[in-house]
Amino acid sequence: MKTLSIYCESFGCQMNAYDSEGIMSLLEKRGHSVVGSPEAADCIVVNTCSVRERAELRALGRLRDLSRHHGATIVVCGCMAQRLGTTLFDLVPAVRIVAGTNAYGLLPDAIMEAVESGGRFTLLTPGDASYPAPGASGREGRVSCYVAIVKGCENYCSYCIVPYLRGNVQSRDADSIVEEITNLVERGAREVTLLGQNVIAYLHGSTGFTGLARRVLEETGIRRLRFLTSHPRDVGADVFELMASNSRFSSHIHLPVQAGNNRILAAMNRGLTRERYLETVREARSIVPEIAITTDIIVGFPSETDADFRETLDIVREARFEAAFTFQYSPRSGTAASLLTDDVPPEVKRERLRLLNAAVQEQRGAILRAQLGADAEILLDGAVQKGEYRFLKGRTPQFRNVLVPCGHLQEGDIVHVVLKRLVNFTFEGEVAAER
Ligand code: 5AD
Ligand code: SF4
Repeated sequence: MKTLSIYCESFGCQMNAYDSEGIMSLLEKRGHSVVGSPEAADCIVVNTCSVRERAELRALGRLRDLSRHHGATIVVCGCMAQRLGTTLFDLVPAVRIVAGTNAYGLLPDAIMEAVESGGRFTLLTPGDASYPAPGASGREGRVSCYVAIVKGCENYCSYCIVPYLRGNVQSRDADSIVEEITNLVERGAREVTLLGQNVIAYLHGSTGFTGLARRVLEETGIRRLRFLTSHPRDVGADVFELMASNSRFSSHIHLPVQAGNNRILAAMNRGLTRERYLETVREARSIVPEIAITTDIIVGFPSETDADFRETLDIVREARFEAAFTFQYSPRSGTAASLLTDDVPPEVKRERLRLLNAAVQEQRGAILRAQLGADAEILLDGAVQKGEYRFLKGRTPQFRNVLVPCGHLQEGDIVHVVLKRLVNFTFEGEVAAER
Protein backbone atom coordinates (compact mmCIF):
# COMPACT_ATOMS: atom_id res chain seq x y z
CA MET A 1 0.00 0.00 0.00
CA LYS A 2 1.18 3.49 -0.79
CA THR A 3 2.27 5.44 2.28
CA LEU A 4 2.02 9.21 2.44
CA SER A 5 3.69 12.05 4.25
CA ILE A 6 1.12 14.13 6.08
CA TYR A 7 1.34 17.68 7.37
CA CYS A 8 -1.20 19.05 9.83
CA GLU A 9 -2.08 22.53 11.05
CA SER A 10 -4.53 23.15 13.85
CA PHE A 11 -6.43 26.37 14.52
CA GLY A 12 -8.58 27.25 17.50
CA CYS A 13 -9.11 25.50 20.78
CA GLN A 14 -7.35 22.70 22.65
CA MET A 15 -10.05 20.28 21.52
CA ASN A 16 -8.90 20.85 17.96
CA ALA A 17 -5.28 20.27 18.97
CA TYR A 18 -6.35 17.02 20.59
CA ASP A 19 -8.43 15.96 17.57
CA SER A 20 -5.49 16.76 15.28
CA GLU A 21 -3.27 14.45 17.32
CA GLY A 22 -5.99 11.79 17.07
CA ILE A 23 -6.18 12.11 13.30
CA MET A 24 -2.38 12.00 12.96
CA SER A 25 -2.14 8.90 15.08
CA LEU A 26 -4.88 7.15 13.04
CA LEU A 27 -2.86 7.93 9.92
CA GLU A 28 0.41 6.79 11.47
CA LYS A 29 -1.23 3.49 12.35
CA ARG A 30 -1.83 3.04 8.62
CA GLY A 31 1.89 3.47 7.97
CA HIS A 32 1.82 7.12 6.89
CA SER A 33 4.33 9.53 8.37
CA VAL A 34 3.78 12.96 9.85
CA VAL A 35 6.08 15.70 8.55
CA GLY A 36 6.84 19.16 9.87
CA SER A 37 6.44 21.25 6.72
CA PRO A 38 3.81 21.55 3.99
CA GLU A 39 6.46 21.47 1.25
CA ALA A 40 7.35 17.88 2.11
CA ALA A 41 3.74 16.66 2.34
CA ASP A 42 1.60 14.54 0.00
CA CYS A 43 -1.40 15.45 2.10
CA ILE A 44 -2.17 18.56 4.15
CA VAL A 45 -4.76 18.49 6.93
CA VAL A 46 -6.09 21.81 8.26
CA ASN A 47 -8.19 21.62 11.41
CA THR A 48 -10.32 24.76 11.62
CA CYS A 49 -12.26 26.91 14.09
CA SER A 50 -15.53 28.82 13.57
CA VAL A 51 -16.04 30.47 16.91
CA ARG A 52 -15.40 33.96 15.55
CA GLU A 53 -15.48 35.21 11.98
CA ARG A 54 -11.85 36.16 12.17
CA ALA A 55 -10.83 32.56 12.96
CA GLU A 56 -12.53 31.43 9.76
CA LEU A 57 -10.97 34.17 7.64
CA ARG A 58 -7.55 33.21 8.96
CA ALA A 59 -8.09 29.54 8.14
CA LEU A 60 -9.37 30.39 4.65
CA GLY A 61 -6.34 32.59 4.03
CA ARG A 62 -4.04 29.83 5.15
CA LEU A 63 -5.83 27.27 2.96
CA ARG A 64 -5.35 29.52 -0.05
CA ASP A 65 -1.63 29.80 0.75
CA LEU A 66 -1.33 26.06 1.12
CA SER A 67 -3.17 25.54 -2.19
CA ARG A 68 -0.02 26.74 -3.88
CA HIS A 69 1.71 23.49 -2.91
CA HIS A 70 0.41 21.85 -6.04
CA GLY A 71 -0.13 18.16 -5.85
CA ALA A 72 -0.72 17.88 -2.12
CA THR A 73 -4.16 16.56 -1.24
CA ILE A 74 -5.79 19.17 0.98
CA VAL A 75 -8.15 18.10 3.76
CA VAL A 76 -10.22 20.57 5.79
CA CYS A 77 -11.71 19.34 9.04
CA GLY A 78 -13.02 20.85 12.28
CA CYS A 79 -15.73 23.40 12.93
CA MET A 80 -15.45 25.41 9.71
CA ALA A 81 -15.63 22.20 7.66
CA GLN A 82 -18.74 21.22 9.60
CA ARG A 83 -20.29 24.66 9.13
CA LEU A 84 -19.51 25.36 5.47
CA GLY A 85 -19.55 21.81 4.11
CA THR A 86 -19.22 21.58 0.32
CA THR A 87 -19.12 25.39 -0.03
CA LEU A 88 -15.46 25.01 0.91
CA PHE A 89 -14.81 23.40 -2.48
CA ASP A 90 -15.94 26.66 -4.10
CA LEU A 91 -14.08 28.90 -1.67
CA VAL A 92 -10.80 27.00 -2.02
CA PRO A 93 -10.85 24.87 -5.18
CA ALA A 94 -7.73 22.88 -4.23
CA VAL A 95 -9.58 21.30 -1.27
CA ARG A 96 -10.17 17.58 -1.81
CA ILE A 97 -11.82 16.47 1.44
CA VAL A 98 -14.20 18.27 3.79
CA ALA A 99 -14.55 16.34 7.05
CA GLY A 100 -16.92 17.36 9.84
CA THR A 101 -16.19 17.13 13.55
CA ASN A 102 -17.60 13.63 13.95
CA ALA A 103 -16.10 11.95 10.92
CA TYR A 104 -12.45 11.55 11.82
CA GLY A 105 -12.61 7.76 11.94
CA LEU A 106 -13.41 7.80 8.20
CA LEU A 107 -10.53 10.06 7.20
CA PRO A 108 -7.74 7.52 6.56
CA ASP A 109 -9.77 5.66 3.91
CA ALA A 110 -11.05 8.86 2.34
CA ILE A 111 -7.54 10.30 2.09
CA MET A 112 -6.28 7.19 0.26
CA GLU A 113 -9.21 7.36 -2.13
CA ALA A 114 -8.78 11.07 -2.76
CA VAL A 115 -5.04 10.68 -3.38
CA GLU A 116 -5.61 7.81 -5.80
CA SER A 117 -8.61 9.20 -7.68
CA GLY A 118 -8.04 12.95 -7.33
CA GLY A 119 -11.77 13.17 -6.55
CA ARG A 120 -13.55 15.17 -3.89
CA PHE A 121 -15.05 13.72 -0.72
CA THR A 122 -17.42 15.12 1.85
CA LEU A 123 -17.58 13.46 5.26
CA LEU A 124 -20.28 15.04 7.34
CA THR A 125 -21.73 12.11 9.24
CA PRO A 126 -23.67 13.67 12.09
CA GLY A 127 -23.39 11.84 15.37
CA ASP A 128 -20.87 9.20 14.28
CA ALA A 129 -19.57 8.39 17.73
CA SER A 130 -16.13 7.30 16.54
CA TYR A 131 -13.85 8.80 19.12
CA PRO A 132 -10.31 8.34 18.02
CA ALA A 133 -8.35 8.77 21.21
CA PRO A 134 -4.89 9.70 20.00
CA GLY A 135 -2.45 6.83 20.19
CA ALA A 136 0.70 7.50 22.12
CA SER A 137 2.92 7.85 19.05
CA GLY A 138 2.52 11.60 18.54
CA ARG A 139 2.67 12.23 22.24
CA GLU A 140 5.63 9.99 23.08
CA GLY A 141 7.71 11.51 25.82
CA ARG A 142 5.56 14.61 26.15
CA VAL A 143 5.37 15.94 29.71
CA SER A 144 1.95 17.53 29.38
CA CYS A 145 -0.94 16.07 27.34
CA TYR A 146 -4.59 16.76 26.67
CA VAL A 147 -7.23 14.09 27.06
CA ALA A 148 -10.80 14.74 25.85
CA ILE A 149 -13.42 13.44 28.26
CA VAL A 150 -16.58 15.05 26.92
CA LYS A 151 -17.42 16.46 23.53
CA GLY A 152 -20.22 18.69 22.38
CA CYS A 153 -22.29 21.25 24.22
CA GLU A 154 -25.99 21.72 24.80
CA ASN A 155 -25.93 25.06 26.55
CA TYR A 156 -26.75 27.20 23.54
CA CYS A 157 -25.26 30.41 24.83
CA SER A 158 -26.88 32.80 22.39
CA TYR A 159 -23.63 34.00 20.74
CA CYS A 160 -22.02 30.59 20.36
CA ILE A 161 -21.84 28.41 17.27
CA VAL A 162 -20.28 25.42 19.06
CA PRO A 163 -23.47 23.49 19.92
CA TYR A 164 -24.48 23.55 16.25
CA LEU A 165 -21.12 22.24 15.09
CA ARG A 166 -20.01 19.88 17.83
CA GLY A 167 -23.36 18.33 18.59
CA ASN A 168 -24.80 17.08 21.84
CA VAL A 169 -22.81 16.20 24.92
CA GLN A 170 -21.07 12.85 24.61
CA SER A 171 -19.14 11.64 27.62
CA ARG A 172 -16.46 9.05 27.18
CA ASP A 173 -16.35 5.81 29.07
CA ALA A 174 -14.30 6.38 32.25
CA ASP A 175 -12.34 3.12 31.79
CA SER A 176 -11.04 4.25 28.41
CA ILE A 177 -10.00 7.61 29.86
CA VAL A 178 -8.12 5.94 32.72
CA GLU A 179 -6.49 3.59 30.22
CA GLU A 180 -5.42 6.43 27.93
CA ILE A 181 -3.89 8.33 30.86
CA THR A 182 -2.14 5.19 32.15
CA ASN A 183 -0.56 4.77 28.70
CA LEU A 184 0.50 8.39 28.61
CA VAL A 185 2.12 8.11 32.06
CA GLU A 186 4.05 5.03 30.91
CA ARG A 187 5.38 7.13 28.05
CA GLY A 188 6.54 9.98 30.22
CA ALA A 189 3.49 12.22 30.77
CA ARG A 190 3.41 13.91 34.15
CA GLU A 191 0.50 16.26 33.56
CA VAL A 192 -2.84 15.70 31.89
CA THR A 193 -5.50 18.29 31.09
CA LEU A 194 -9.00 16.83 30.90
CA LEU A 195 -10.76 18.58 28.02
CA GLY A 196 -14.33 19.40 27.17
CA GLN A 197 -16.47 22.37 26.13
CA ASN A 198 -17.80 21.94 29.66
CA VAL A 199 -16.00 19.21 31.62
CA ILE A 200 -18.38 19.63 34.54
CA ALA A 201 -21.14 18.18 32.30
CA TYR A 202 -19.22 14.89 32.20
CA LEU A 203 -21.53 12.00 33.05
CA HIS A 204 -20.97 8.39 32.10
CA GLY A 205 -23.10 5.80 33.86
CA SER A 206 -23.09 7.07 37.42
CA THR A 207 -19.64 8.68 37.15
CA GLY A 208 -19.66 12.47 37.13
CA PHE A 209 -16.72 14.85 36.72
CA THR A 210 -15.30 14.65 40.24
CA GLY A 211 -15.84 10.88 40.28
CA LEU A 212 -13.79 10.63 37.11
CA ALA A 213 -11.07 12.97 38.40
CA ARG A 214 -10.85 10.95 41.61
CA ARG A 215 -10.48 7.72 39.64
CA VAL A 216 -7.72 9.22 37.50
CA LEU A 217 -5.87 10.41 40.61
CA GLU A 218 -6.23 7.05 42.35
CA GLU A 219 -5.67 4.70 39.44
CA THR A 220 -2.97 6.42 37.43
CA GLY A 221 0.44 7.78 38.33
CA ILE A 222 -0.24 11.18 36.78
CA ARG A 223 1.47 13.86 38.88
CA ARG A 224 -0.76 16.75 37.90
CA LEU A 225 -4.33 16.82 36.76
CA ARG A 226 -5.88 19.91 35.21
CA PHE A 227 -9.20 20.52 33.44
CA LEU A 228 -10.66 22.88 30.86
CA THR A 229 -13.32 24.42 30.54
CA SER A 230 -15.96 24.71 33.28
CA HIS A 231 -19.38 26.32 32.96
CA PRO A 232 -19.79 28.44 36.11
CA ARG A 233 -23.46 27.48 36.39
CA ASP A 234 -22.53 23.81 36.86
CA VAL A 235 -19.48 24.04 39.13
CA GLY A 236 -20.14 22.94 42.68
CA ALA A 237 -18.22 22.68 45.95
CA ASP A 238 -17.20 19.08 45.13
CA VAL A 239 -14.70 20.32 42.52
CA PHE A 240 -13.06 22.71 44.99
CA GLU A 241 -13.08 20.13 47.78
CA LEU A 242 -11.22 17.67 45.56
CA MET A 243 -8.73 20.44 44.73
CA ALA A 244 -8.20 21.19 48.41
CA SER A 245 -7.76 17.54 49.35
CA ASN A 246 -5.39 16.45 46.59
CA SER A 247 -2.25 18.37 45.75
CA ARG A 248 -2.03 16.62 42.36
CA PHE A 249 -5.30 18.28 41.30
CA SER A 250 -4.06 21.68 40.26
CA SER A 251 -5.29 24.87 41.92
CA HIS A 252 -6.61 26.62 38.86
CA ILE A 253 -10.03 26.90 37.29
CA HIS A 254 -10.94 28.49 33.98
CA LEU A 255 -14.41 29.82 34.59
CA PRO A 256 -15.77 31.89 31.69
CA VAL A 257 -17.89 34.78 32.95
CA GLN A 258 -18.46 36.41 29.49
CA ALA A 259 -20.03 39.58 30.95
CA GLY A 260 -20.63 41.33 34.25
CA ASN A 261 -24.11 42.71 33.69
CA ASN A 262 -27.21 40.66 34.45
CA ARG A 263 -29.25 41.87 31.48
CA ILE A 264 -26.43 40.95 29.10
CA LEU A 265 -25.85 37.62 30.85
CA ALA A 266 -29.54 36.81 30.40
CA ALA A 267 -29.41 37.82 26.73
CA MET A 268 -26.39 35.56 26.37
CA ASN A 269 -28.44 32.71 27.86
CA ARG A 270 -25.69 31.95 30.35
CA GLY A 271 -28.09 30.59 32.95
CA LEU A 272 -26.61 32.54 35.84
CA THR A 273 -26.36 36.01 37.30
CA ARG A 274 -23.41 38.12 38.31
CA GLU A 275 -24.24 37.43 41.95
CA ARG A 276 -24.30 33.65 41.45
CA TYR A 277 -21.00 33.81 39.62
CA LEU A 278 -19.39 35.82 42.40
CA GLU A 279 -20.81 33.41 44.96
CA THR A 280 -19.06 30.52 43.19
CA VAL A 281 -15.83 32.54 43.21
CA ARG A 282 -16.19 33.16 46.95
CA GLU A 283 -16.88 29.49 47.57
CA ALA A 284 -13.82 28.53 45.51
CA ARG A 285 -11.57 30.84 47.53
CA SER A 286 -12.99 29.77 50.87
CA ILE A 287 -12.25 26.10 50.09
CA VAL A 288 -9.03 26.60 48.06
CA PRO A 289 -7.50 29.91 49.22
CA GLU A 290 -4.58 29.68 46.78
CA ILE A 291 -6.77 29.05 43.71
CA ALA A 292 -6.15 30.97 40.48
CA ILE A 293 -9.25 31.91 38.53
CA THR A 294 -9.10 32.76 34.83
CA THR A 295 -11.93 33.60 32.48
CA ASP A 296 -13.29 34.42 29.01
CA ILE A 297 -15.02 37.73 28.35
CA ILE A 298 -16.90 39.08 25.32
CA VAL A 299 -17.24 42.85 24.81
CA GLY A 300 -19.76 44.55 22.56
CA PHE A 301 -22.56 42.00 22.74
CA PRO A 302 -25.69 43.52 21.10
CA SER A 303 -27.16 46.38 23.14
CA GLU A 304 -24.23 46.48 25.62
CA THR A 305 -24.04 50.04 26.99
CA ASP A 306 -21.10 51.80 28.60
CA ALA A 307 -22.74 51.22 31.98
CA ASP A 308 -23.16 47.49 31.24
CA PHE A 309 -19.53 47.31 30.20
CA ARG A 310 -18.43 49.04 33.40
CA GLU A 311 -19.97 46.15 35.31
CA THR A 312 -17.76 43.81 33.29
CA LEU A 313 -14.72 45.89 34.25
CA ASP A 314 -15.87 45.75 37.87
CA ILE A 315 -16.28 42.01 37.91
CA VAL A 316 -12.67 41.63 36.72
CA ARG A 317 -11.65 43.23 40.01
CA GLU A 318 -14.32 41.69 42.20
CA ALA A 319 -13.62 38.16 41.01
CA ARG A 320 -9.87 38.89 41.00
CA PHE A 321 -9.29 37.24 37.63
CA GLU A 322 -5.71 36.36 37.12
CA ALA A 323 -5.99 36.20 33.34
CA ALA A 324 -8.67 36.46 30.70
CA PHE A 325 -9.16 35.61 27.07
CA THR A 326 -11.03 38.63 25.77
CA PHE A 327 -12.99 38.91 22.55
CA GLN A 328 -15.00 41.39 20.55
CA TYR A 329 -18.46 40.01 19.87
CA SER A 330 -18.67 38.47 16.41
CA PRO A 331 -22.12 37.48 15.12
CA ARG A 332 -22.30 33.85 13.99
CA SER A 333 -25.09 33.02 11.62
CA GLY A 334 -27.53 30.46 12.94
CA THR A 335 -27.08 31.48 16.58
CA ALA A 336 -29.87 33.17 18.55
CA ALA A 337 -27.81 36.35 19.02
CA SER A 338 -27.29 36.69 15.27
CA LEU A 339 -30.93 37.75 15.10
CA LEU A 340 -30.13 40.77 17.29
CA THR A 341 -28.70 43.90 15.71
CA ASP A 342 -24.95 44.01 16.09
CA ASP A 343 -25.30 47.59 17.26
CA VAL A 344 -22.08 48.26 19.15
CA PRO A 345 -19.83 50.06 16.64
CA PRO A 346 -16.47 48.40 15.89
CA GLU A 347 -14.49 51.30 17.37
CA VAL A 348 -16.48 51.05 20.62
CA LYS A 349 -15.83 47.30 20.77
CA ARG A 350 -12.15 47.96 20.20
CA GLU A 351 -11.97 50.59 22.92
CA ARG A 352 -13.82 48.36 25.42
CA LEU A 353 -11.44 45.53 24.62
CA ARG A 354 -8.49 47.84 25.25
CA LEU A 355 -9.85 49.01 28.60
CA LEU A 356 -10.68 45.45 29.59
CA ASN A 357 -7.25 44.13 28.70
CA ALA A 358 -5.63 46.94 30.66
CA ALA A 359 -7.73 46.08 33.72
CA VAL A 360 -6.89 42.38 33.42
CA GLN A 361 -3.16 43.08 33.00
CA GLU A 362 -3.10 45.41 35.95
CA GLN A 363 -4.75 42.86 38.15
CA ARG A 364 -2.59 40.03 36.86
CA GLY A 365 0.49 42.05 37.78
CA ALA A 366 -0.83 42.74 41.27
CA ILE A 367 -1.71 39.08 41.93
CA LEU A 368 1.65 37.87 40.67
CA ARG A 369 3.67 40.52 42.54
CA ALA A 370 2.01 39.37 45.76
CA GLN A 371 3.58 35.94 45.15
CA LEU A 372 7.17 37.23 45.09
CA GLY A 373 9.22 35.47 47.73
CA ALA A 374 6.76 32.59 48.03
CA ASP A 375 7.57 28.91 47.50
CA ALA A 376 6.04 26.99 44.63
CA GLU A 377 6.19 23.47 43.29
CA ILE A 378 6.74 23.62 39.57
CA LEU A 379 6.53 21.03 36.85
CA LEU A 380 9.15 21.66 34.17
CA ASP A 381 7.53 21.30 30.76
CA GLY A 382 9.87 22.96 28.28
CA ALA A 383 13.06 24.87 27.61
CA VAL A 384 13.65 28.46 26.48
CA GLN A 385 16.72 30.23 25.25
CA LYS A 386 17.19 33.80 26.46
CA GLY A 387 20.21 35.36 24.82
CA GLU A 388 23.10 33.10 25.76
CA TYR A 389 21.29 31.52 28.71
CA ARG A 390 19.11 28.45 28.60
CA PHE A 391 16.25 28.16 31.05
CA LEU A 392 13.70 25.51 31.82
CA LYS A 393 10.11 26.63 31.85
CA GLY A 394 7.72 25.40 34.47
CA ARG A 395 4.24 25.94 35.80
CA THR A 396 3.00 26.29 39.33
CA PRO A 397 -0.21 24.49 40.36
CA GLN A 398 -1.95 27.80 39.56
CA PHE A 399 -0.55 27.56 36.03
CA ARG A 400 1.78 30.51 36.58
CA ASN A 401 4.91 30.63 34.43
CA VAL A 402 8.30 30.20 36.07
CA LEU A 403 11.76 30.07 34.50
CA VAL A 404 14.65 28.36 36.27
CA PRO A 405 18.29 28.00 35.26
CA CYS A 406 18.85 24.57 33.73
CA GLY A 407 21.47 23.27 36.16
CA HIS A 408 21.14 19.50 36.09
CA LEU A 409 17.36 19.66 35.78
CA GLN A 410 15.36 18.35 32.88
CA GLU A 411 11.86 18.51 31.43
CA GLY A 412 9.40 16.48 33.47
CA ASP A 413 11.12 17.20 36.80
CA ILE A 414 9.05 18.60 39.62
CA VAL A 415 11.02 21.05 41.74
CA HIS A 416 10.45 23.42 44.60
CA VAL A 417 11.41 26.97 43.87
CA VAL A 418 11.33 30.36 45.51
CA LEU A 419 9.72 32.94 43.20
CA LYS A 420 12.45 35.56 43.07
CA ARG A 421 11.72 37.99 40.27
CA LEU A 422 8.87 38.84 37.95
CA VAL A 423 9.49 39.89 34.35
CA ASN A 424 6.55 40.30 31.94
CA PHE A 425 4.26 38.11 34.02
CA THR A 426 6.84 35.31 34.18
CA PHE A 427 8.62 34.47 37.41
CA GLU A 428 12.25 33.63 37.72
CA GLY A 429 12.65 30.94 40.32
CA GLU A 430 15.48 29.70 42.47
CA VAL A 431 15.49 25.98 43.02
CA ALA A 432 15.03 24.96 46.65
CA ALA A 433 14.68 21.18 46.41
CA GLU A 434 14.01 18.48 43.85
CA ARG A 435 11.56 15.63 43.82
N1 5AD B 1 -18.07 36.25 19.48
C1 5AD B 1 -17.03 36.52 20.30
N2 5AD B 1 -16.55 35.63 21.17
C2 5AD B 1 -17.11 34.41 21.22
N3 5AD B 1 -16.85 33.33 21.97
C3 5AD B 1 -17.69 32.35 21.61
N4 5AD B 1 -18.52 32.77 20.64
C4 5AD B 1 -18.17 34.06 20.38
C5 5AD B 1 -18.66 35.03 19.49
N5 5AD B 1 -19.69 34.79 18.67
C6 5AD B 1 -15.81 33.30 23.00
C7 5AD B 1 -16.41 33.00 24.37
C8 5AD B 1 -15.98 31.59 24.62
C9 5AD B 1 -14.66 31.54 23.90
C10 5AD B 1 -14.18 30.18 23.59
O1 5AD B 1 -14.90 32.27 22.72
O2 5AD B 1 -15.81 33.87 25.31
O3 5AD B 1 -15.85 31.29 26.00
FE1 SF4 C 1 -20.44 27.83 23.57
FE2 SF4 C 1 -21.69 28.31 25.89
FE3 SF4 C 1 -21.24 25.75 25.08
FE4 SF4 C 1 -19.20 27.29 25.86
S1 SF4 C 1 -20.92 26.62 27.16
S2 SF4 C 1 -19.27 25.96 24.03
S3 SF4 C 1 -19.80 29.32 25.17
S4 SF4 C 1 -22.58 27.25 24.08
